[in-house]
Amino acid sequence: MGFVITVDGPAGAGKSSVTRRISKRLGIRYMDTGAIYRAIAYILDQKGIAPVENEELARAVASIGLRIEAEGIFVDGTNVTEAIRSYRIDRIVSGYAALKTVRGALLDLQREQAKHGDLIADGRDTGTVVFPNADLKFFLTASPEARAERRYKELLKKGEAVVYKEVLAQIHERDRTDSSREVAPLREPAGAIHVDTSLMTENEVVNELAFIIQNRMR
Ligand code: DC
Repeated sequence: MGFVITVDGPAGAGKSSVTRRISKRLGIRYMDTGAIYRAIAYILDQKGIAPVENEELARAVASIGLRIEAEGIFVDGTNVTEAIRSYRIDRIVSGYAALKTVRGALLDLQREQAKHGDLIADGRDTGTVVFPNADLKFFLTASPEARAERRYKELLKKGEAVVYKEVLAQIHERDRTDSSREVAPLREPAGAIHVDTSLMTENEVVNELAFIIQNRMR
């Protein structure tokens, strides 16, 4: 097992963009666990399987072939990296991520990734459940308004027709589902470094985290 860094926090705190940039800058492998949950949600949604625990769901989850490659995330051989970033997936993913069957199936896959050297992972439970013994843990957060604003701009850029108020409502809804679910709810890990990014630029966040990581890895 290499040096493991976890970055957890609510939807829209900037975890993925920040973590991806740090990974590139410091040459540490990156695992976007949100993308893994999005990929599962995407394929189950396409198959018409509802986010409820039953045999059909269990069978479907067990038969999904998920691969994380340098080029992106693949489900049954198809690269879904772009497709999983849609507003539809934003809205449905939390429902699937709350299911025990789904989380259980993804646990080993995530832990496997730390066996190939240093790793920086971001998500909701990477520091609490997936890697409780991680070498360094961060908790990245921001006000719901700041997070909604960022997500809104991102979606507009992609050409999606969205309304700010709806994006904000959806952020509140995702916070509620992610924090109140029974299995692996979003929690700040004990001993994590807490960073509120509401008033910080992405560059500032990247610089601060990279500085701390470099010092600790020395
Ligand atoms: O970070 P994101 O928005 O891409 O995550 C998508 C969803 O996946 C989010 O609503 C919660 C869920 N998720 C999770 O439950 N556990 C993780 N480690 C990562 C994401």
